Amino acid sequence: MSKQTSVKLVLLGEAAVGKSSLVLRFVSNDFQENKEPTIGAAFLTQRCTIGTKTIKFEIWDTAGQERFANLAPLYYRNAQAALVVYDITKPASFIKARHWVKELHEQASKNIVIALVGNKYDLLVDPETGDEIEGRRSVSVEEGQALADEEGLLFFETSAKSALNVNEVFTAIGKQIPEE
Ligand code: GTP
Ligand code: MG
Repeated sequence: MSKQTSVKLVLLGEAAVGKSSLVLRFVSNDFQENKEPTIGAAFLTQRCTIGTKTIKFEIWDTAGQERFANLAPLYYRNAQAALVVYDITKPASFIKARHWVKELHEQASKNIVIALVGNKYDLLVDPETGDEIEGRRSVSVEEGQALADEEGLLFFETSAKSALNVNEVFTAIGKQIPEE
């Protein structure tokens, strides 16, 4: 019999970086071009099998709009995992991600597993060649990786639109969660 573990996971990040879209991709394998902003927070669950382990993710998708900022601690306080999301084409969203990581390390559970996620990779890609177009990105891979290394985070660049690395983020988190 395989073991089942529940994992409380929170998504944090500036408005419109694609938090809800990453969750929609992970839970329903779907994408919406004009997704409406989250109000307060949304709760969704998804099961995921990693080897012999089944993980039930209990996902709190928070609202990035500034007027909801004071709600975030309610959701990250007892979270075992967090996705801190930025948009690789928006430098301000990377600065915001830095702040979230700092706040989590100060206020959240001591052994929380955090993944830093640079989303919207598809915006960099030439549809003809599939290669990254030079000069399109605002946050380099090196900057993302450096922050992750400094702070002990998992690090991925993703696209909720193309599905790049979305399952991989959750799988990597699942692997780092200790067995109950
Ligand atoms: P809040 O709920 O306001 O905090 O925003 P959010 O972080 O949940 O962003 P949301 O998922 O609502 O996405 C915002 C917009 O970006 C939507 O129009 C999405 O379709 C778009 N978007 C999200 N992810 C991607 C992506 O990977 N690539 C592209 N091209 N667009 C994306
Ligand atoms: Mg949202």
